[in-house]
Amino acid sequence: MLAALAAVSTAAPSLVPRGANATCSGYKVSQASETSCGLTASLELIGEPCNIYGVDIKTLVLQVDYETDNRLHVKLYDAAKHQFQIPDSLFPRPGGCLSASKANLKFSWEKCPFSFTVSRKSNNEILFSTKGYDLVFQNQYLQLSSSLPDNANIYGLGEVIAPLRRDPSNTTQTLWARDAGDPIDQNIYGTHPFYLEHRASTGNEGPRSHGVYLANGNGMDIFLQNNSITYKIIGGVFDFYFLGGYQTPQTVVTQYLDLIGKPVMMPYWSFGFHQCRWGYKNVSDLQFVVNQYKSHNIPLETMWSDIDYMDQYRDFTLDPVNFPPAEMKAFVDKLHANGQHYVPIVDAAIYKPSKNETYDVYTVGASKNPTTFMKNPDGSEYVGQVWPGYTVFPDWFSPSTSDWWTESMRNFTNRVNVDGIWLDMNEPSSFCIGSCGSGKSNPAVLPFALPGTPGNPVNTFPEGYNNQTARPPTTNYKRSEMRMLLMKRSEAQNGNFNVNYPPYAINNGEGNLAGHTVSLNATHYGDYIEYDVHNFWGYMETQQTYNTLLALNSSKRPFIIPRSTRPGSGKHAGHWLEFLYMYFSITGVLQFQLFGIPMVGPDTCGFNGNSDEELCNRWMQLSAFYPFYRNHNVLGALPQEAFRWPSVAEASRKAMAIRYSLLPYWYTLMEDASRTGNVVINPLFFEWPDDQSLFAADRQFLVGKAILVTPVLEPSATTVNGVFPGNGKTEKWYDWYTQKALGYGADKNVTLSAPLGHINVAIRGGYILPMQQPSYTVAESRKNPFELLIALSMNGTAQGNLYLDDGESVNPQGTSLINYTMANGKLTASGNFGYHETSKLDKITILGVDTRPSKVTLNGQKLQSWTYNNSALNISGLNGSMTESWTLVYQ
Ligand SMILES: *[C@@H]1O[C@H](CO)[C@@H](O)[C@H](O)[C@H]1NC(C)=O
Ligand SMILES: *[C@@H]1O[C@H](CO)[C@@H](O)[C@H](O)[C@H]1NC(C)=O
Ligand SMILES: *[C@@H]1O[C@H](CO)[C@@H](O)[C@H](O)[C@H]1NC(C)=O
Ligand SMILES: *[C@@H]1O[C@H](CO)[C@@H](O)[C@H](O)[C@H]1NC(C)=O
Ligand SMILES: *[C@@H]1O[C@H](CO)[C@@H](O)[C@H](O)[C@H]1NC(C)=O
Ligand SMILES: *[C@@H]1O[C@H](CO)[C@@H](O)[C@H](O)[C@H]1NC(C)=O
Ligand SMILES: *[C@@H]1O[C@H](CO)[C@@H](O)[C@H](O)[C@H]1NC(C)=O
Ligand SMILES: *[C@@H]1O[C@H](CO)[C@@H](O)[C@H](O)[C@H]1NC(C)=O
Ligand SMILES: *[C@@H]1O[C@H](CO)[C@@H](O)[C@H](O)[C@H]1NC(C)=O
Repeated sequence: MLAALAAVSTAAPSLVPRGANATCSGYKVSQASETSCGLTASLELIGEPCNIYGVDIKTLVLQVDYETDNRLHVKLYDAAKHQFQIPDSLFPRPGGCLSASKANLKFSWEKCPFSFTVSRKSNNEILFSTKGYDLVFQNQYLQLSSSLPDNANIYGLGEVIAPLRRDPSNTTQTLWARDAGDPIDQNIYGTHPFYLEHRASTGNEGPRSHGVYLANGNGMDIFLQNNSITYKIIGGVFDFYFLGGYQTPQTVVTQYLDLIGKPVMMPYWSFGFHQCRWGYKNVSDLQFVVNQYKSHNIPLETMWSDIDYMDQYRDFTLDPVNFPPAEMKAFVDKLHANGQHYVPIVDAAIYKPSKNETYDVYTVGASKNPTTFMKNPDGSEYVGQVWPGYTVFPDWFSPSTSDWWTESMRNFTNRVNVDGIWLDMNEPSSFCIGSCGSGKSNPAVLPFALPGTPGNPVNTFPEGYNNQTARPPTTNYKRSEMRMLLMKRSEAQNGNFNVNYPPYAINNGEGNLAGHTVSLNATHYGDYIEYDVHNFWGYMETQQTYNTLLALNSSKRPFIIPRSTRPGSGKHAGHWLEFLYMYFSITGVLQFQLFGIPMVGPDTCGFNGNSDEELCNRWMQLSAFYPFYRNHNVLGALPQEAFRWPSVAEASRKAMAIRYSLLPYWYTLMEDASRTGNVVINPLFFEWPDDQSLFAADRQFLVGKAILVTPVLEPSATTVNGVFPGNGKTEKWYDWYTQKALGYGADKNVTLSAPLGHINVAIRGGYILPMQQPSYTVAESRKNPFELLIALSMNGTAQGNLYLDDGESVNPQGTSLINYTMANGKLTASGNFGYHETSKLDKITILGVDTRPSKVTLNGQKLQSWTYNNSALNISGLNGSMTESWTLVYQ
């Protein structure tokens, strides 16, 4: 049975390594006892070791803890504790202890061979069961499977460029942080071994969702096939958290974030529009772009720099010719004077200077004891190669690294007063295999040409619109690479730990696990090997950068956008999606909502290749409805800022006016996410978990729960299809632009007019949207009078919230959380009013008012300034309070 599974894992029978035909018989429970929160047991290997991809571990410990009513922790580890386990510093576990009788989940097990089942007590529904599947626990290979229902609805398991709902019949998800932008269905930057499973109603029971988080950081393959999920992991232990969720998917996300940490609160300004590119070659280029946005009256909140600004691509430096310190200071000061912001990139690898050069960032780190850089197995410095030439890599486990990183960042920010940090290349990326710079010195001859340079042209047309059929080319390369690895491996098959070539080859898109990154045999302080902690590099850099920014300015919220993420990264940062496709930008944004990193968005208009007017027009409008809104592209590609084409400028102004008018709503959603774990962007099935037609819907999405976006994702289209769930039955939808109720049927997929420059946006009845008139910057917009847009539900009710604070403090002095509630023609504002808000409430628009009111009053006083048209009541000139409760009535 195992041979068959092994064949799947390596894709070709001829690649099955020696010993792989053996069957492994699993484990038996030799002793078990109940504890106050669950169970502990000893497991012994049955029969002879099968040593299929490593050495069988004979004695295991099972520990089961009911941590909360809906969280069950099941850990299976080697009794000797030689296997890597995620240290608390990388995953502070909340713990918890509940007696089994109080829990909603139930753990049951069989003695011989050992298997376990997690079920829901209320209905005996099985959520996860290893019964009937092999269990393998070896030093370099762990394998465990669970059955899944037919055609299971699985979400998560990323980072990946794939549809929102994962294909239950044929998915191979590899988790190994990798610098690769565009391969569909392969492993890329982040590693999130978490999935949500959603089940439709059966009988009279409603829909049910649950979640499974495997707290294992080693490289792994996760397979969905034959009604099962299978984990094949090259190290560590089995460390599962089962999250009971229940009738809504959101409950699962909330329980997951209770475990790994809720998203950090973002600064208010970060919801403005960001412009970036690789290839702004001097300060004048930056200033030109800022000026053009202004003269075209397209809001620009933040200017970004890619690696161009650095002196020869060295971190924390400025190019003395093109980005001289005085000019940069003047540029950033001017941005700040205009209420705008500046964010530069910081790369993962640190330039190693040659003897005749001065580069303190390296010298200071190297002179610390212990040093701040990663090492080779022999204790020498590990030297890879990235943009600047030969480079070293920060060792985040070293106790010296924190001070060194903060000192480096302080020196830099003393020269350039940045508003945030963009962390790139932190898988970490290295362009050669192994410590290729050992014994060599810079300047290195770089083994690549920059995009757009002779011999390395930028493709002429790039970004497929919605190319769902695009699959990575089936690479012969990968197979031959694997064959080579297996040959090498067989030399070391006698039970050794083979750090360089783990016997089981995960389906790393790069082939060799050391390809395009730091080698597995590189070491960290504390005897950690890269083999075990590779997937944490980006997380640790982000965590340190968060602490560093706080150390430099304890009053301002750090704003960090990293590329490589792990469960828990959202506690410190957001993320951007560095890849091609416009359709997959939706699924990427939705995926990261599940991972607790809601501040996310793509390289708008596309990163690689030359964008064009139509694509950029559509994408600038679409991204205006993502939490993180940034335009960015590659060196050498044609410029794609919003002002480059009149039609794109116009489309961008339109969409940005909507976005900026909704800034109070966006910020309220962010605060809610940070406090409660609610997602910011909802997949449709989150809100209609009982509607099976929506389980795979990922071409539309909801901003919060109230705004439905239906973007065009195909070229040359003038219409788009979309659904309006429940319309006319349980829900009422209004068009954003006309403010009229939409007449489409509840279960219809309708064709909407969508000429270029128009993005379909609908408002959901039952919601109250807090708004402000948009101005050029976020700060100016924030000073304008408030408005409420109220979309009444079918029964005339609506509800909404508004969160207010100073927009940037880590611990704001005063905060307001205002509840707006409407029913039977009566609207009340109540709640906490701790923030001293100086703007007034100027205007209220109520949609869905069936008959013309005869009278409108605020706190009992009759109002004169209102109109009624097309079922909309518009009340203006209110001068209403934002600091105390009030009641408005129309009759
Ligand atoms: C494993 O089985 C395959 C066919 O199932 C066979 O071709 C191969 O020789 C076997 N390998 C070993 C080492 O027994
Ligand atoms: C499964 O997916 C892989 C690549 O994603 C593809 O090559 C293969 O043909 C698929 N298998 C089936 C049975 O669809
Ligand atoms: C340092 O020496 C190398 C050759 O060893 C030379 O190419 C480089 O220009 C020198 N750099 C400085 C700053 O003198
Ligand atoms: C920071 O700047 C000071 C003063 O120039 C310098 O002595 C120190 O080496 C710098 N530290 C780093 C890490 O670059
Ligand atoms: C979609 O991608 C496939 C594979 O990369 C390619 O052959 C095809 O031409 C693309 N289709 C479109 C419409 O771009
Ligand atoms: C470490 O791994 C690299 C390949 O990633 C290899 O070239 C090198 O020889 C290894 N070093 C040792 C000491 O095993
Ligand atoms: C609506 O129709 C479009 C076009 O056929 C399709 O792509 C989309 O998935 C459909 N939406 C839903 C929710 O079924
Ligand atoms: C009105 O409808 C909403 C949503 O459908 C529901 O939650 C609420 O209970 C209803 N209120 C009344 C008064 O019927
Ligand atoms: C606001 O209303 C919600 C229900 O919509 C309620 O849970 C919450 O406690 C209220 N908050 C305040 C501050 O009144």
